[in-house]
Amino acid sequence: MSISIRFGEVELPGRDGQTIAGVLMANGHRTWRDAQGSERGIFCGIGICQDCVITVNGVEGVRACQRAACDGDVLEREARA
Ligand code: FES
Repeated sequence: MSISIRFGEVELPGRDGQTIAGVLMANGHRTWRDAQGSERGIFCGIGICQDCVITVNGVEGVRACQRAACDGDVLEREARA
């Protein structure tokens, strides 16, 4: 089943069962957080490092590599160390 999530002003298509990181990366996004001037995205990919955190539906600090993407999710970049 196809899903759609919004990242900023852009709608991103995905597949049911993909993680948020999976949808972002499948749509060409390699980073989605600013940390002291360094762009961050996936590092460990298994929920340990927290490099991939992103705001989902207004909730900060969601690990994009662990959270399944849900149709209608709204993502926002984070800017913190
Ligand atoms: S990439 Fe390390 S926690 Fe998500």
